[in-house]
This record gives sequence, structure tokens and C-alpha cells, in this order.
Amino acid sequence: MLKIKKTVAENIADKLSVAFGGAEITAEMIEGMLEYPPDAKMGDIALPCFKLSKVLRNAPPRIAAAIAEGFECEFVEKAEVLGGYFNIYLDGQKLGEKVVGEVAAKGEKYGAPDFGAGKTVVLDYSSPNVAKPFHIGHLGTTVIGHSLKRLHEFAGYNCVGINYLGDWGTQFGKLIVAYRMWGNKELIESGGIDKLVELYVRFHEEAEKDASLNDKARAEFHKLEQGDAENIALWQWFVEISLAEYQKTYKQLGIEFDSYKGESFYTDKMPAQVQKLRDMGLMKIDDGASIVDLEEYGMPPCLILKRDGSTLYPTRDIAAAVYRKETYDFDKAIYVTSAGQSLHFAQWFKVVELMGYDWHDKLVHVPYGTVSINGEKLATRTGNVILLRDLFALAIEKVAGIMNEKNPGLEGKDKIAEQIGVGAVVFYYLSNNRIRDINFVMEDALSFEGNTGPYVQYTYARACSVLAKSGSYDRSAPVKISAPEEAELVKVLSKFEENVIDAIDTYEPMVITRYILDVAGAYNRFYHNCSILGAESEEIKNSRLALTEAAKTVLGNAFGLICLAKTEKV
Ligand code: ARG
Repeated sequence: MLKIKKTVAENIADKLSVAFGGAEITAEMIEGMLEYPPDAKMGDIALPCFKLSKVLRNAPPRIAAAIAEGFECEFVEKAEVLGGYFNIYLDGQKLGEKVVGEVAAKGEKYGAPDFGAGKTVVLDYSSPNVAKPFHIGHLGTTVIGHSLKRLHEFAGYNCVGINYLGDWGTQFGKLIVAYRMWGNKELIESGGIDKLVELYVRFHEEAEKDASLNDKARAEFHKLEQGDAENIALWQWFVEISLAEYQKTYKQLGIEFDSYKGESFYTDKMPAQVQKLRDMGLMKIDDGASIVDLEEYGMPPCLILKRDGSTLYPTRDIAAAVYRKETYDFDKAIYVTSAGQSLHFAQWFKVVELMGYDWHDKLVHVPYGTVSINGEKLATRTGNVILLRDLFALAIEKVAGIMNEKNPGLEGKDKIAEQIGVGAVVFYYLSNNRIRDINFVMEDALSFEGNTGPYVQYTYARACSVLAKSGSYDRSAPVKISAPEEAELVKVLSKFEENVIDAIDTYEPMVITRYILDVAGAYNRFYHNCSILGAESEEIKNSRLALTEAAKTVLGNAFGLICLAKTEKV
């Protein structure tokens, strides 16, 4: 494992304890203070010593000077004092040997931390509501959720991906009524989910005029809850049709779930939790409804039962969490939803705590901002929403158009266009801080020039093509770092693992997209400035091919963490 910052920090802490005897400065503290200077002229790693002046009661330049005196450390070429900064320059040659060797030895495992070994993480994500449109609002939960799963798996966690389908509720009463009035078997069989959504939309339109439809819908849902065979069969069929449609999108993204236990699964698991709340005296009747008062914690009450005794969204989440703890004994349970649901999660997490479940602090809500779409007019077959499927379809179509112009003879064009089109959407989306609201501009996402998915996938293909053209090379030959672009590339490659750790700690896939851009940028500068296949000597050629191979492996590993396909040819 390459822990350069850590090694540097240990050496600095040792120096400090000698120079300023008695000062309690740990290597960990120093590691947290180390920075990557924005400009290479200021070194590769820097310690801003003013952060220490208070504890050490000394001026920053004096502290820097004390560290610099006779400073020695693996991979460090030289160190300098600049004002209050202690600046370190890494030894490209030594680092290159180490990095290239490690990437080659570890391959798909290069960059993987190991702190997840023996631990389980349950991730609840995507979770669309059956028979309602699977729209771009679900893009976030789907790709952030899956990236977090990949990141945790990479760190050694046993991961359980759960698609908590919204497969229960009054919408099924509505759908059953609508189906019997305006639908039929053939229509749904041929039209699939679109027809279901149409029926659902029509129901709402007609119910505006005729309110008795709502009563009918409630009655049908009640029958469903009571286990009416005909309604159950219809419900199951609606769920199956919807799921078949979602699977197409998941397949494009390379996503598989370990469990599809949706809301309906928890129907018989709620009463025990409601009873527990009642027995513990946590529940209060408020205007006929049962609630848990959370005023003391600065939140509105958490609703457990409606006036008619029916359960609610939080009730189900509480029962599901208990079930998941019993079933998977998780060390962490992650829920990825839009920020609009933050209060809901804060409320029921609190209720779980009040219920005395000691694992309440293992529940994590990961929120994200809204997505809007600008410029492009997307086909909106159903009402006002933009379907995820249509967004991907448009991206794929555009990429296919570009490819037909650029490279008409390319083999397997359709597949590649799909990978790049879908990748463009995913990469663009994950390039932003997840909590920020984003405005989707298709043109920008699809550009081959900007900081986009197509650009990084193209870079990956470029590395593959260099390696393919070389035939084979001598992998045992020594690494020779002879150009600054090579040194820069190995420095970037050495930082993979710390970025993975940062992404996991902050639940932020953007850390990985940014890192991918750093690697792609460094590789492309190397590619343009250093001749690889036409290198001045066989030795340098071998070394540059090894660097190319290392860059390809790191890019590929990082792609895997954010649902981006490894495109060998573009
Ligand atoms: N089905 C919900 C929705 O589309 C998301 C479910 C999130 N997960 C959860 N355990 N509440 O809004």
C-alpha cells in the first residue's frame, strides 16, 4: 500500500518531537495538515507550519527550519523551507518504480483499502415507485447508490444492495380501478409500463371530475390488503411489468441488486414495532393519529399510524431497518434519497434510537440535490416528467451519430455507443457535489473535449490501443522516469487509494470522477509529450509501455467504482 503522506507525516512528527521535546504532536495530526500545493513549484506535498505555531509556541519559519534540518524520507528527493511552509519534492524515479510495480502486482485490487474486511454494509438505493414513472429524479439514488456499493466492496466490505421498491400503497387501488375501467390484458402486455403509467395518469385526470373514483380506489386497495386473490394477482403482474422495465435501465448501467424486497414485504413486520412503541410509551395520540413527539429534538412529530389505523412511510422504514439488522447484522446501513427526504430519515432514525436499538448510529442517510434539464427537449410520453430511459436513449442516439461520422467502420458500434452514451450521463451527473442541484446540459455531457465521460473513456481506449499496437513488451524491464510528464503521472497514480478512502468517508463519488480526470489529464500530457512506441531507446519504450499499462489499470479500477464501462475501443 502506498501511503506517502503517512510516511512523510511520521518523519515530520519524529523530527518535531526531537526539536520541540515534550510537544504532543502525532503523525496523524500532521497527516491531516499536509496539503497538495496548487503549483508544482511549491513542491508535491507541503506542511503549512502556521497550523503548528500555537501548539509549539514558535514562529512558522522556525518550525519549518527545524523539520528541514537533515530531513530524510523514502520517496522524498528534497525538502525546502519557503516562508512558513515546509515543502517536499518527491523522487519521481523511486516513486515510479514503486507505483508501477504495485499496480502490476495488485492489478484490479490496486488502490483498494482493506478496512471493510469482515464487515457488512446494506445499501438501500434506486427504489422506484412501481407504476409511477422512473424519472430523472431517480438518477441520483441509482448511480450514487451503486457507486457507494462499489466503493465499499472495493474496501473489502460485504455489501447488500437493496432495491426497496415502492410496491405497496393506495396507488395500486387507483391502478386496479383504472385498469378495469380503461385497460385490458393485451394493452398492458404490448405496451408495458408506459401503459400502466398512462392508466395512472388518466385516473388522476378523471378523479378530478369524479371524486367517487378515489373511494373506489381506496376500496380496491383495502381488498388488496385483505388478500383478495384477483387484486393480488393484478398487483403482482403490475410489479413484474414495472420491474422488467427497470431491469433494462439497470442493465445499461451494469447494476444488479441483491434484494428486491419492497415496501409490501414489511406489511406483516410493522405490527410488532408499533406494539413496541406503544409498550414503551413512546406513542401519543394526536387528533386520532398515532405519533412520536420529537419536539424535544427540534423536529415535527414522526407519524406512525393514520387515524384509520393504517401505517405510513416511516412505520415501514422502521420495520425494514429492524428486519435488515436481524437478517444481515450490518455495520452500516446506507440510504440514498433526494435531500427532500432528509427530515423523514432524521425523524425515524431518532425514533429507532428512542426505541433503544443500539445500532441506531449505524444508519446513514446520504442525500442529493435535484436535477433539471436544460436545452434539449426530451420526449415526455407521460405527463411532465422526464424518464431516465429517455434520457439514456437520447444520449446513446447522439453518441451513435457522432461515431458514425468519426469512425463508421468501428466493430460493435451499438454496444460502444450505449456504453459511452450512458457513461456520459453518469459521469456528468457524478462530476458534481452530490448535494448541489444540477442542471443537465446534454451538449456538455456528450462533448469529447471537456471534462466528460466520453473524454475519459476515450483516454482509456487510447491507452488500450497503445498497448495493443506494441504487441508485447518486456515487463521485467526497469522503470525509467526521464521526463517531467512521467513523474507527474506516477504521482497522480500514487494517490488513488487516498481518494478512494476520501470518497468512502464522505459518501461522495465525485471524489472519484475528479480523480479520474486527474489521471486522464496526466496520461494525455504524457502521451502528447513523450513518444511511446517511437521512444529513443528500447529501455525507455518498455518503461513508457509499463506506465501506460499502469494508467490503464488505475483508470479501469476507478471506472468500476462509478458505473463507467471500460471502453477498449472508441
Ligand atoms: N420509493 C421512495 C421514493 O421513490 C424511495 C425509498 C427510499 N428508501 C427508503 N428506505 N425509504 O421516493
